[in-house]
Amino acid sequence: MCGIVGYAGKNRAVPYLLEGLEKLEYRGYDSAGIAVAEGGTLRVTKTRGRISNLEALIAAEHQSPATVGIGHTRWATHGKPNDVNAHPHRSMSGRFCVVHNGIIENYLQLKAALQAEGYVFVSETDTEVIAHLLDKSWDGDFVSTVRKTAAQLEGAYAICVLCSDCPDQIVCTRWGSPLVLGVCESGTFIGSDVTAILRHTNDVYYLDGHETALVDAHGAVFFGKDGAAVDKQPRRIEWNLSAAQKGGYEHFMLKEIMEQPKAFSDTVSPRITADGTIAFEDFRLTDDEICRLRRVAVVACGSAYHAGAVGKYVLEKLTRLPVEIDIASEFRYRDPVLDEDTLVVVISQSGETADTLAALRLANERGCKTLCIVNVVSSSIANEGGSVIYTHAGPEIAVATTKAYSAQAAVFYLLAGYLAEKRGLLTKEQLAAYTEDLRAMPDLIQKTLGDCEQQIKTLSQMFIPLEHAYFIGRNLDYACAMEASLKMKEISYIHSEAYAAGELKHGTISLIEKGTLVVALAAYSDVFQKTLSNIKEVKARGARVLAVSTERHVDALGEVDYRILIPDCNPLFSVTLEVLPMQLLGYYTARARGCDIDKPRNLAKSVTVE
Ligand code: G6P
Repeated sequence: MCGIVGYAGKNRAVPYLLEGLEKLEYRGYDSAGIAVAEGGTLRVTKTRGRISNLEALIAAEHQSPATVGIGHTRWATHGKPNDVNAHPHRSMSGRFCVVHNGIIENYLQLKAALQAEGYVFVSETDTEVIAHLLDKSWDGDFVSTVRKTAAQLEGAYAICVLCSDCPDQIVCTRWGSPLVLGVCESGTFIGSDVTAILRHTNDVYYLDGHETALVDAHGAVFFGKDGAAVDKQPRRIEWNLSAAQKGGYEHFMLKEIMEQPKAFSDTVSPRITADGTIAFEDFRLTDDEICRLRRVAVVACGSAYHAGAVGKYVLEKLTRLPVEIDIASEFRYRDPVLDEDTLVVVISQSGETADTLAALRLANERGCKTLCIVNVVSSSIANEGGSVIYTHAGPEIAVATTKAYSAQAAVFYLLAGYLAEKRGLLTKEQLAAYTEDLRAMPDLIQKTLGDCEQQIKTLSQMFIPLEHAYFIGRNLDYACAMEASLKMKEISYIHSEAYAAGELKHGTISLIEKGTLVVALAAYSDVFQKTLSNIKEVKARGARVLAVSTERHVDALGEVDYRILIPDCNPLFSVTLEVLPMQLLGYYTARARGCDIDKPRNLAKSVTVE
């Protein structure tokens, strides 16, 4: 996730900016840069790669005496991780430099309008529109210009701006992405999170949405949404650096679970147009090719495979294309039957998983259409795919994936709607209703997380002594059962199995005895009654059943021992809510068992060997 720092003070800015950027390294980044105000000139130094590269560049190029500057670590979302796309971005006149966190959803419209007026873009980023808009909005007043610019942005942003006409000042504002400020003896510090400024002060000002701050060496003045001055009080941060990096959460995994509303929204919102249709940035299949597709093959490893299982059900339901799904290490060695009318969808958070990459290469060699769903921009899989749809989940640090998985499922919802409309199976009106339901999901994800966390903490107590646990479900609920079971086993080390509920009778039911704990995923309405029958079967053999279902089915759940209710939503999307208590269940069980949650034994975040 990108990081922002800023400093205006009595001392040289460069060392403070570099130190702040280093503190933000944990967020993940692929390039870094700074801009400092040297009198009436703004000097920008930026580079792909590590902060040490930036340090070397600065050491070679200048020892700037500037006392005001901004800096950024970039995690690529729009455009490759290279020098040009690194922040800060300069406006065409050179009057402004800007660093930005977040995603500008209307950047393509803004970019087209600016280009029509003669503004020349040098990068592929959404951020560069902000730089040129600042030029265009310039009215001689720094704060007013930033406010006028921000008013045109849709999406999420935290921005810090330097202006060559006001070399002693920084203006920052935000909506959707955080910014904090700290004032101390040596000057005023800005950070996208407190880790960047904790070394200097524990008393910080959190900028509220749409607030603007005018920063100089003596402090900051704040303006509200309406432009009127706001009197803000600092808040004392008691966290140490490690707690601060985790946003106050005990583990990255829990932080990332809680980031899912944003990951889902950042993935979905920029792809839904004003009229409710779907558009992708790097989707190279023509409408004709889409209509000629005869089948889809989904290939991935681990949780990405489970997201693919969600994709299979949703794609088949909406597009009526046959969809097969395979584990990459199986796919690559089974001489799969593939042709040019097959769309091979490859899913990978890291974009570097060896088996998944090999599967993609095989599909490319066989002349298939390939589409990659990837989180890391310009990773190997992203670079070699025919088309790419990025999940905008931000960097994931915990080995056990949560937010990247949810963002992958979100992409399948988009993809299914997109293909269905192109293939004439959804009208524009039906697609608009579908995307409206999709837009509602981040709030429902937020609500589900808020509603169930305490309950899960309590329920996890009964999992602590277990040696085995079973997760059952059908269709989309089965896809969720697989992910729920993986979450439980990989971090708590409890042996768990996921079973298609209807298959229980063919073997696994022999393991059910008095007291066996069975988690029944029963949210998907189409098969609810069927799953209920399976719940009765295991109950009859003495199992204790924890059921996860939606509010609309509450009356039918009388017989289960424990239940978790998620909000009603479009039935195809309920799996996205259902998986949340399962992630929390794995997390709280592992925590109670004293496991190393963020780095489970024997596992790696990115499996780059076969
Ligand atoms: C590892 C990770 C999983 C991930 C899988 C696939 O096993 O621990 O969380 O789902 O690799 O990784 P990818 O980067 O290809 O999604």
